[in-house]
Amino acid sequence: MELTVANTLPAVDEYCDLRVATGLSAMDREAALAALPRSLHAVTIRDGERLVAMGRVVGDGLHVQVVDIAVAPDLQGNGLSRTVMEDIMAFIDTLPRSTIVNLFADIDWLYQKFGFVVPDHTTGMSLRRG
Ligand SMILES: CC(C)(COP(=O)(O)OP(=O)(O)OC[C@H]1O[C@@H](n2cnc3c(N)ncnc32)[C@H](O)[C@@H]1OP(=O)(O)O)[C@@H](O)C(=O)NCCC(=O)NCCS
Repeated sequence: MELTVANTLPAVDEYCDLRVATGLSAMDREAALAALPRSLHAVTIRDGERLVAMGRVVGDGLHVQVVDIAVAPDLQGNGLSRTVMEDIMAFIDTLPRSTIVNLFADIDWLYQKFGFVVPDHTTGMSLRRG
């Protein structure tokens, strides 16, 4: 296994496929084609050519969101998510202290060690659209 870490975008198809393979919701491919280049930051890990892990930060620099943290099922449990999150935290460290950084966590253990907390003064909300 030869893993390479890069701050590059995934291709649309491999992005959509990795989300589904990891149990995340399916994304519209045309929307992904337009959206991926608008990322503020992206990290991809490849085994050779194959996309095996990724994460992105989206937003406008004042409000940002950590999204699309995913590791291919056959490589989960090897710490790849830590590599992804360390890279993302290094990017977040370049943002102004006033920037608000959010994420929606399916599992909290992944993010707690990087300082993310469930806020006690506000509630994250999400609109389910089908
Ligand atoms: C969640 C996910 C990204 C984790 O990636 P991973 O590379 O398999 O993560 P690992 O199993 O190597 O675990 C990373 C760390 O969490 C720890 N960990 C793993 N399972 C844990 C658990 N149940 N409770 C607490 N800590 C746990 C590991 O010990 C490791 O700790 P370390 O970095 O301090 O060594 C991956 O399983 C995935 O893609 N899941 C499906 C998609 C998903 O749920 N994405 C997140 C959406 S919010």
